[in-house]
Amino acid sequence: MGIHFREVSHEYASYQVGDYQAINKITLSIEDENEFICLVGHTGSGKSTLAQHMNALIFPTEGEVEINGKIITKKRDKKTNYNLLRKHVGLVFQFPEYQLFEETVEKDIMFGPLNFKISFEEAKAKAVEAIHLVGLNESYLKRNPFNLSGGEKKRVSIAGILAMDPDILVLDEPTSGLDPFGKRQLMELFKNIQKETKKTIVIITHDMDLVYEFANRVIVLNDGDLVYDGNEEDLFKKEELTKWALGLPETIKVLRRLKDQFHLDINPYQKTVDQAYEELKKVMTK
Ligand SMILES: Nc1ncnc2c1ncn2[C@@H]1O[C@H](COP(=O)(O)OP(=O)(O)OP(=O)(O)O)[C@@H](O)[C@H]1O
Ligand SMILES: [Mg+2]
Repeated sequence: MGIHFREVSHEYASYQVGDYQAINKITLSIEDENEFICLVGHTGSGKSTLAQHMNALIFPTEGEVEINGKIITKKRDKKTNYNLLRKHVGLVFQFPEYQLFEETVEKDIMFGPLNFKISFEEAKAKAVEAIHLVGLNESYLKRNPFNLSGGEKKRVSIAGILAMDPDILVLDEPTSGLDPFGKRQLMELFKNIQKETKKTIVIITHDMDLVYEFANRVIVLNDGDLVYDGNEEDLFKKEELTKWALGLPETIKVLRRLKDQFHLDINPYQKTVDQAYEELKKVMTK
């Protein structure tokens, strides 16, 4: 059934500076299987606001969001159990501090699964499995989440959502603040989860190299408007990229410069360093 936005706007009420419309009349559909979506846009373009509508953490001030068949509008329905929607769509927050609240990492990861009525033993086993998935060892389970480094907190908050096993995973900047190896390791993990389980993964990121390599659909927000929803190939051929404050992946940048300066007969649209290398090698060994 997926997630369907119909003309969704969100206006934050702010007493100091007046009301602020963060997203404007967004219409889009996300299937609950087999999508790998990157959501991009300049700082303040409305990405986190949009993501928080995906599991009814915040409500539209105009329009409606349908999540797994349930319609969400600005009115809260007393009969709807919004927590059940969170089993369907799991959201990892941009700032993990907002998500971690228990005194041990283990309790934190077990919190979600226990809420959905699985046994204590099963929840414990899920915590062990999840901590390994995010690249940490079991010694972290007994630690206090507040004493972890930024990157470790990020991984623990991701483990908490993986343990709930939702159909759709929405991750708000999951790789920010991680070292290059950790970034790639997490992206590979998400890609594998998506491939093996056919879940849908939505990732918010500013990293165009990762977008180009991993996404098969990209959604672009600019000043709260949805300005692009399509594949990663066409996005980087758009003239509007600068207007939307988006950069190019490094591979395209360097190959385009070489192509123009030396009139090389190459295709600059290569996703990885290895592919760029092979493309250049072809003309160099001709
Ligand atoms: N609770 C709030 N109250 C008032 N304004 C808010 C609130 N949260 C966000 N905003 C404003 O709404 C706009 C969109 O914010 P949002 O956090 O969705 O952007 P973003 O695209 O996620 O940015 P970033 O890349 O910096 O994370 C911003 O201008 C922000 O200042
Ligand atoms: Mg954000």
